[in-house]
Amino acid sequence: MLDWLDKVLGSDQEENTDAIGQSLEAGARTLVDLLAPGAMIEHEDCIEFPGQGAVRIWFIQDLPPEMAREALDAIYDFSGEIRVSMLVRPLDKAAVRAFLRQQRVAQHAEMVARAQRQMLPDYTKQAELAEVEATLHQLEVSHRPPKELCWTVALWGADRDELDTLSEKLEDLLLDADLTFFRASLRQEEGLYTVQPFGQNFLGHARNIDTRALAGMFPFARRTWTDPQGVPYGIDRTTGAWVIIDDFQLPNFNLLIIGEQGSGKSMFLKYKATWGILLGMRVFVIDLEGEFESMCRALGGTYLDMSLTSPHKMNVLDLNPDDPAAWMNGLQDTLAWLEIALGGLTTRERNVILTAAYERVMGEAGILPDNPSTWRRTPPRLSDLYAVLRADERRAAQDLADRLQPLAVGVYREAFDCQTTIDFAAPLVVFSLKNVHKDMQPLRMRQVVTFIWARVLTGLTPTILIVDEAWRWLSQPGAADDLAEMARRFRKRYAGLNLATQHGGDLSASAGAVVIRDTAAMVMLFRHGASHVPAVAELFGLNQVEAEELLGLDKGESILIMGPVHLPLYTPIPPDWYHVWTTDPRELAAMGHGCSTSRRSWAVWGSP
Ligand SMILES: Nc1ncnc2c1ncn2[C@@H]1O[C@H](COP(=O)(O)OP(=O)(O)OP(=O)(O)O)[C@@H](O)[C@H]1O
Ligand SMILES: [Mg+2]
Repeated sequence: MLDWLDKVLGSDQEENTDAIGQSLEAGARTLVDLLAPGAMIEHEDCIEFPGQGAVRIWFIQDLPPEMAREALDAIYDFSGEIRVSMLVRPLDKAAVRAFLRQQRVAQHAEMVARAQRQMLPDYTKQAELAEVEATLHQLEVSHRPPKELCWTVALWGADRDELDTLSEKLEDLLLDADLTFFRASLRQEEGLYTVQPFGQNFLGHARNIDTRALAGMFPFARRTWTDPQGVPYGIDRTTGAWVIIDDFQLPNFNLLIIGEQGSGKSMFLKYKATWGILLGMRVFVIDLEGEFESMCRALGGTYLDMSLTSPHKMNVLDLNPDDPAAWMNGLQDTLAWLEIALGGLTTRERNVILTAAYERVMGEAGILPDNPSTWRRTPPRLSDLYAVLRADERRAAQDLADRLQPLAVGVYREAFDCQTTIDFAAPLVVFSLKNVHKDMQPLRMRQVVTFIWARVLTGLTPTILIVDEAWRWLSQPGAADDLAEMARRFRKRYAGLNLATQHGGDLSASAGAVVIRDTAAMVMLFRHGASHVPAVAELFGLNQVEAEELLGLDKGESILIMGPVHLPLYTPIPPDWYHVWTTDPRELAAMGHGCSTSRRSWAVWGSP
């Protein structure tokens, strides 16, 4: 041991050797004497320190291109005395390049020779050649030097028996992590020196590694995400640090949430909405299941029942006086609504009959296209438009009047022939479509979209629009196009679309859905069923480890994707909030419903 320490500490030590020897002779203790064990017996695959314990060293020969976080953490957190040493050395780029080129030529020659002998290609060699090519390419385009990693693990036990038992457990974990490893046979002493913090590789085993793979292996060197203005999205499951993100700092403010039933999507959206309100944002929610009611009431928001018999009314012919093109946009919105309501429109019906009828009915109400001061006047109602069509004797106009009749003056007039009564000013508005018949939902959705656009165009307030159960809209070209338009244009209006759906496939259901998928700056993937994982992994560029992780995520756990960044998250829900939001029928029954909406539950956090 002394010889070796001399080697490590350098020649200065040589001069002192005599002095140390003399001190020992005199029975005095030096630092080296104190540090070194009394005796050391080197066995083939471990070192024993009689009376003090035993140690075994492994070196890692090979590792997968992407290391699984959980597998690595299991090694780092091994319950035993363990030391993991990673020595990283930059390599000479030119030498590596020359070596790889040589390899490429040799492999290429071998393949040509096989072909000339009319032998089948050797696919392993082909894969090796492809890897060499890829590494060479990487070397050319990257400014970072290639690196060499010497990865050594030491494990201590109280005695050799305990060491053997612990070794088996550790080797299981190393196998789980897909590592190729060996006990440093007959080289345990060199291994022991390698795991000391001297920065020297006495074993000589090393493997080349790229910077990205290396960065992923450091448990403590992950980027932290703590935007002071942001929403705490959750806790990084690897580092335990909070991930706080300001959506409005990202390239666009859209968030996609995908996960199977009961994986925690709606819970997260309620959490996000609540944080949005606490941070002073404006929040709109399109609620298909009526799930957001208790949250809305607890936050003092406006909950709009959009059913046909609801007292909350929206006039289809409303104008938004704050929009500099209100008259023209009002016409477009009305036509888009009528398109859905009347089961499609021909060009003639649209451009000739309805546009003229709209112009006339607006004119009769004193609202003129070229006079913005008239745009604040009380707009006409659907029955007025109907009357104009009925009075038009052309056949096409009569046909349109027939189709509009049930909505304007017939059975549905209560719902659609009205002036607007809803509160525009509330920072939180939840549109509930729960009690709206499936066939009527697109009509209502169109009105909601118009309403939200009008608000978003009014003043630049950070706004989020939450659309839960979005599969309902993504499969309908009209509604999907409306949402896609929002996804595209919201950024300039300081607004973001937060959309949740169950399957990645829903995002390919229509052209609009594809736009939404491709424009989201953030994607949160909650638990997925096995049959959906491959498609989602492909769609969002997950590696194999992440893809497997998707299957086993617990409620509230997700993978957050922001471009190239993938963060493993868990979103803990504050207990007081949880009671207001849960949809678990057992929990609701246990709480006896009513109390869940009590404002008292906000005591801890303060009523927003
Ligand atoms: N972060 C969380 N922490 C603890 N429990 C959670 C969390 N998220 C969800 N849960 C539990 O899971 C239940 C279902 O969650 P949620 O309603 O959010 O599922 P979902 O993904 O929206 O499902 P669906 O697609 O059926 O609407 C909740 O009622 C709650 O009990
Ligand atoms: Mg849900």
